[in-house]
Amino acid sequence: MNILITGGAGFIGSAVIRYLINETQHNILNVDKLTYAGNLESLASIENNSRYHFSQTDICDKENIIQLFNKFQPNAVMHLAAESHVDRSISSSAEFIQTNIVGTFQLLEASRHYWNGLSKEKQDLFRFHHISTDEVYGDLSDSVTELFTETTPYAPSSPYSASKASSDHLVRAWYRTYGLPIIITNCSNNYGPYHFPEKLIPLTILNALQGKKLPVYGNGEQIRDWLYVEDHARALYQVVTKANAGATYNIGGHNEQKNIDVVKDICNLLDELAPNKTLEIASYSDLITFVPDRPGHDVRYAIDARKIKQDLGWVPQESFQSGLRKTVLWYLNNQEWVNRILTGEYQKWIQKQYPL
Ligand code: NAD
Ligand code: DAU
Repeated sequence: MNILITGGAGFIGSAVIRYLINETQHNILNVDKLTYAGNLESLASIENNSRYHFSQTDICDKENIIQLFNKFQPNAVMHLAAESHVDRSISSSAEFIQTNIVGTFQLLEASRHYWNGLSKEKQDLFRFHHISTDEVYGDLSDSVTELFTETTPYAPSSPYSASKASSDHLVRAWYRTYGLPIIITNCSNNYGPYHFPEKLIPLTILNALQGKKLPVYGNGEQIRDWLYVEDHARALYQVVTKANAGATYNIGGHNEQKNIDVVKDICNLLDELAPNKTLEIASYSDLITFVPDRPGHDVRYAIDARKIKQDLGWVPQESFQSGLRKTVLWYLNNQEWVNRILTGEYQKWIQKQYPL
C-alpha cells in the first residue's frame, strides 16, 4: 500500500512513520512543510529506507499537492499536519486557521480529484484518515463518570480546538457530499519520545534538568487523559487499514491525571534517575511554580475508547507509570536531539540535509 502522510516530521507523525517502516511493508511519502515543530532528525533511524520518501511541501500549496498525489498514487492519506499547540493559538491564531482549516480543505480537494480518477475497486479501498483531537468536544465537568464518546457534541474552547473542529466538519462534509471515503480519529493527550519541548511533559523534564522553574497553570487540578505516542501510532494503523468509510473512533489511554500530579511524578522519576547534585534543592519538585491560568483552560478530558477496542481490537500497551518512565529515560539518553532543539540547531541540520 502507498500511504501519503502529512505532518510526518512532527511528534505523532514521526512515530507513525517509524512504526510503518519498521513493522509493515508499506511505502510512505511524508509531506511536511517543516515548521518550527517539524524535525527530520526524529526520522533519522528510517530515513535511508527505500520505502520512505520525503517532500518539503505546504499542504496549502494546491498545485504541488496535486502533483504529489499523481506521482505517488496513494491508497490512503493519513493527515496529521497541523499547528498543534494551544498556547500558541491563543497568542497568534492565524497559522492555525490557515493550516488546520484551509490546509485541510486543500488536501480534501486534492484527494477528491485524485480519487475521482481511480477505478471503482481502488475508490472503494481508498481512505482519507483525518487525525484529530478530543479537544473538539470541549471539556467535561469534574465528575469522574463522564467521558467523551464518538457522539459527544462539539464545543471547542480554544482557537486551536475550534480550528480542528472546523476541519473535522469539512472532512465529514466531503464524505456526505462527494462520497470521499474518510475516517476521523479523535485522540487524547499524547506523550513519549521526540515530543517538542513546548508541551507540558517534555517542558517539565527539560526545565527541571536545567534547574528552571516548572510552570503549572492555575491550580494544576486540570485533568488530561494521557496516551503513549507509540500506542497511538498502532491505533492509527489499525484504523487506516480496517475502519469502514465514514467511521469515527475516539482513541485514549484511560490514564486520567491531574497536571500537578504529572509534574510531581516527573520530579520523582528525575530524583531517582538523575539526582541533582549542583542545585540547592532537595527535590526537583521544589522548582514547581504556579503561574496564571491559560485563558479558557479546559478542565477535564477523558476518552471512552470502547468502540475502537470492540471494532478493531486495539488497546493501549503502556500504563502511565511505564510510559512516563520510558519517556524520562528517553530524554535523559537523547541529549543531542534535545540540545539541537534547545539551541535551534535542528533547523540548520534540516537545511543542510535538504537544501531548498
Ligand atoms: P506537531 O506540532 O508535533 O507536528 C505537526 C507537523 O505538521 C510538523 O512536522 C509541522 O512541520 C507540520 N506542518 C505544520 N503546518 C504544515 C503545513 N501547512 N503543511 C505541511 N506540514 C505542516 O503535532 P503533533 O503533536 O504530532 O500532532 C499531529 C496531529 O495530531 C495534529 O493534527 C494534532 O491536532 C493531532 N493530535 C495531537 C495530539 C497530541 O497530544 N499531540 C493529540 C490528539 C491529536
Ligand atoms: O487533548 C489533545 C491535545 O493535547 C492535542 O490536541 C494538542 O495538540 C496537544 O498539544 C495537547 O493539548 P494540551 O493543551 O492539553 O497540551 P499541553 O501539553 O500544552 O498542556 C497539558 C496541560 O498542562 C494543560 O492542561 C495545560 C497545562 N500546562 C501546560 C504547559 C505547557 C501547564 O500547567 N504548564 C505548562 O507549562
